[in-house]
Amino acid sequence: MGDGIRFRFDFSLVGESNLRGGDGIAAPDFRKMMALVDDAVDTLAGKHRRGEIGFPDLPFLEKEARAISRDAAALRAKCTHILVLGIGGSALGTKAVHDAVGGAGRPGMALSVGDNVDPDAFFPLLAKLPMKKTAVVAISKSGGTAETNAQLALAIAALKKAVGKRWKERLILITDPSKGVFRRMADAEGLKSYAVPPNVGGRFSVLSPVGLFPLAAAGVRVDRLLAGAAQMEAIFRHTKGTDNPVRFAAAVYAYYLLVKPKAVQVWFTYGAGLSLIAEWWQQLWGESLGKEREGRAPVGQTPARAVGVTDQHSQLQLYQDGPSDKVFTFVRWMTGREKGNVPKAGFAPDMAMLGGRPLRDLFDAEFEGTIGALWSAGRPIVRMEIGKRDEEHVGAFLHFWEWVTAIAGTCAGVDPFDQPGVEEGKRIARALMGEKGTETFRADFEEKVSGIRRAEIRIGEDLPDVSRRRMRGK
Ligand code: PA5
Repeated sequence: MGDGIRFRFDFSLVGESNLRGGDGIAAPDFRKMMALVDDAVDTLAGKHRRGEIGFPDLPFLEKEARAISRDAAALRAKCTHILVLGIGGSALGTKAVHDAVGGAGRPGMALSVGDNVDPDAFFPLLAKLPMKKTAVVAISKSGGTAETNAQLALAIAALKKAVGKRWKERLILITDPSKGVFRRMADAEGLKSYAVPPNVGGRFSVLSPVGLFPLAAAGVRVDRLLAGAAQMEAIFRHTKGTDNPVRFAAAVYAYYLLVKPKAVQVWFTYGAGLSLIAEWWQQLWGESLGKEREGRAPVGQTPARAVGVTDQHSQLQLYQDGPSDKVFTFVRWMTGREKGNVPKAGFAPDMAMLGGRPLRDLFDAEFEGTIGALWSAGRPIVRMEIGKRDEEHVGAFLHFWEWVTAIAGTCAGVDPFDQPGVEEGKRIARALMGEKGTETFRADFEEKVSGIRRAEIRIGEDLPDVSRRRMRGK
C-alpha cells in the first residue's frame, strides 16, 4: 500500500469456506459482485469526468488547504475558542476527525460543535464559551437549514454582546459559492466565507472547507489529512481487481446489501477516537443508500455502532444469539498510543493472569475474542485495522469509505448523492415554523397528520393519577 499509510482489510471471514451457516460469499457470487462493482466504478468515473461529482478531487486541493491553514492560523492569534454551527454533513466530519486524531490535545483553538437546536444543550453551550475570544463558523451548504439559521442568529447576538461592532471579524460562513441565504448574507455583510464545491454533497464534504477550516483552526494538520486521502485515491485508481481494497470492500458490502440482504451493518470500534468516525459513517451509509427504487423494493441498511469493549456487555448478546440480520465491521487502530501495564500484584488468584501485563493485551484479547464468538455463531465479519492514529490515516480511511459507499449505492441502482427524505424533513420543519409561501404545503401536511389516532396514557396531567391510586389500593 502507499508510502505513508498502512491498513489491513481482512475479508476472510465472509468467504463461504470460512463461515458456517450459509451467510458466506461463494466464489462465483463474489466474481459477479466484482463485475457489478466494475460497472459502478465506470458509471461513477463518467459522472466525475462530467463534473457531476467532486469528492474524488478534494484530496488534491492542497493549495486551497494551505490558504485555509494560513487563515486559520491568523484566527488562532486572535481567538482561543471556535464554535462550529452546522448539522449532518456540515458537522459530523469535523467532530469525527477532531476526535480521531486527538484534536483536543493539540495546540489549537478549543473546538465546540453545535449540531442540535435542543435548547437544553445549545443555550448552555453558548453560555460556557468565552465569546470575547470565540470565533463562530456557521456551515450550511444550502443555507436553508432552519436549525443552523436559528443557531447563527443566536451566535450573532452573543458575539454582538461580547465584541460589539467587531462581530463581523469573528464570523465565518461556509456555504454554496453563489446561492442560498448564507451566501447572500456573506455578500451583504462582507463576511469572510469559503465555498463548498457545488458538486460535493454534505456527507462527502469533510475534506472541503467544511471540515478543513474548523479542523485547521483547532490545530489539526489538514495538509496531512488530504495527503492520506490522496494516497487512498491513488490506490483506488491504480490497483487492479481484487488487490484493490475499495473495489473488494464494495463487492462484499454490496453482496450483503443486495444478494443476501442484511438489514443492519454494525460497526464495532475498538479504540479511542473511532466511535465518532462510526457516527460520521452512519450518516454516509444511511443517507446515501436508504432510498426508494422505481419498480423495485426500497434498499438500505441500518448503520449501527457499538463500542468495544463496553458494548460487549450490552449489545453483544443480541448480535450473537439474536436474528442473523447483520453484517459486522470491526475497526481498530493497529497501534494504540498508551502503553501502560496493570500492576503485577494485588489480584485474586483467579485473576492472576492479568498481573504485570499491558492493559492493551486485555483490550486486544477482547477484540479477537468478540470476533471469534461472532464468527462461530456464523456472522459475516469484516476486519479493518488502521495503521496509526494520525491525520494521514484518518484522511485515507474517510476517503476509502466515501468510495465504498458511492460504489455500493451505484450497484444498488440508487443515487448515492441525493437525500430526498432529508430535504422533505427540512421543508416540513420550515413550513411548521411558518415559512412564507408554504401555506398550502403546511395545510396539506397538517391535514395528512390529522389522521393520526392517538393512544396516549398521561400521568400527572389532566387525567387522574391512576398509578398512585392503584398503589394506595384505591
Ligand atoms: O448530507 C447531506 O446533504 C445532509 O445531511 C446535509 O449535510 C445536512 O442536512 C445539512 O445541510 P446544509 O449543509 O445544507 O445545512
